Amino acid sequence: MKLCMIGTGYVGLVSGVCFSDLGNDVICVDRDINKINLLKKGKIPIYEPGLSELVVKNYKNKRLKFSSDLEISVKNSDIIFICVGTPTKKNGSSADLNQIYNVAKKLSSSINKFKIIITKSTVPVTTGDEIEKILSKKNKKNKFSVVSNPEFLREGEAIRDFTYPDRIVIGSNDKKSNKILKNLYTPLISKGAHYFHTTRRAAELIKYASNAFLATKITFINELANLCEKTGINIEDISIGMGLDKRIGSRFLRAGPAYGGSCFPKDTKAIVSTSDKFKTNLTLIKSVIRSNHNRTSILLNRIYTILKKKIKNKKITFLGVTFKANTDDMRDSSSLTMIPSLSKKGAKIRYFDPTGYKKEFKKIKNVSYVNSIKKSLEGADLVIVHTEWNDFKSINFKNMIKGKKFIIYDMRNIYSPTKIKTQGFRYFSVGR
Ligand SMILES: NC(=O)c1ccc[n+]([C@@H]2O[C@H](COP(=O)([O-])OP(=O)(O)OC[C@H]3O[C@@H](n4cnc5c(N)ncnc54)[C@H](O)[C@@H]3O)[C@@H](O)[C@H]2O)c1
Repeated sequence: MKLCMIGTGYVGLVSGVCFSDLGNDVICVDRDINKINLLKKGKIPIYEPGLSELVVKNYKNKRLKFSSDLEISVKNSDIIFICVGTPTKKNGSSADLNQIYNVAKKLSSSINKFKIIITKSTVPVTTGDEIEKILSKKNKKNKFSVVSNPEFLREGEAIRDFTYPDRIVIGSNDKKSNKILKNLYTPLISKGAHYFHTTRRAAELIKYASNAFLATKITFINELANLCEKTGINIEDISIGMGLDKRIGSRFLRAGPAYGGSCFPKDTKAIVSTSDKFKTNLTLIKSVIRSNHNRTSILLNRIYTILKKKIKNKKITFLGVTFKANTDDMRDSSSLTMIPSLSKKGAKIRYFDPTGYKKEFKKIKNVSYVNSIKKSLEGADLVIVHTEWNDFKSINFKNMIKGKKFIIYDMRNIYSPTKIKTQGFRYFSVGR
């Protein structure tokens, strides 16, 4: 099939590459010409394990193309996936749909034959209806079908998630597009993915409901970790004990920093905003957002207590600054709040991240990037394990740094407290 992905970011690039690997002709479009030029040279603008090899392979096979010309790319395709960003509105909490509607307006002039227009971006309920209205201004209704096909991939596991999804959700109000899309997804369905067809509005809401539920699970266990710290209970035991119940499940039950990333923070806010618009009240999700916001302050206060409130001139090292491992994505990472707060109090901060230097800290006083774990630890007073990269899991601090013993605050519970303590370090973790 001939596919066009509009927006070549984490979702558009990964799904476009994977669709081409399944044998489709895919053209990935982006308004960012630099990104397109890099991709044409085989350079990948994001960090995603395994992506580079797949891009090079399919680009060489000519099943995968890159372009900044939306009009021609759309005209030459049958199925159009809209994969542009839907960030939170500046000074608001609802989703900013400007990128989506701009694309819809541009698409409108390029419908030369029947096309399926799909939102793969996460969009609030009724966005599909709005896109349909925009397209109807210039096109007859039988020339296009607007479908919702939310994406559930996780950064860091994106290729695996795309190729072996738990479910494929298709929200369409007509049979024709459903039939074509079922055919498109047949290779994944035959590997075990559930194909679920529903209405367009339901598919839009399923995505937000899923993300809000997962965010709730994380927040739930984070709050329980606070209780464990006061009662001498190990939160890991609670996670295991609860997770063994199949109705609950063990995933997303690991205590740590506030949830971050490009999805949960903005999507929890957006679903609340949608419910406000329809005059209902999602009190539980509102409470999750509040609790997650407070989480960063709780962990910062713990740092102040660990350092006995003497932050000025303390050398603090961050191991990992992205919101989770195996991604370079900094969007809404809790380090973006923690590092500036500590810098304001006079701390001298160094950070090491396997995905390198981060422009987000460029203007923050006394914050510097170092390019190795060892360098980041030298002379430190406090080492904060912020992100659970495998690179950090087997560090032998005692062998790596002779002499000075720093304090370790392991926000991901990746070390055994006894082992670290026997190496002679003061050690703190989360909920244990
Ligand atoms: N990142 C994830 O893990 C993830 C997972 C599931 C769903 N989503 C959803 O998918 C959507 C995209 O997320 P992302 O992380 O890939 O975003 P992103 O910011 O990485 O990529 C969006 C891309 O769209 C491009 N773009 C914007 N307007 C354009 C236009 N008019 N024409 C062509 N290109 C245009 C941008 O230049 C950018 O490269 C969002 O709605 C997000 O919520 C993201």
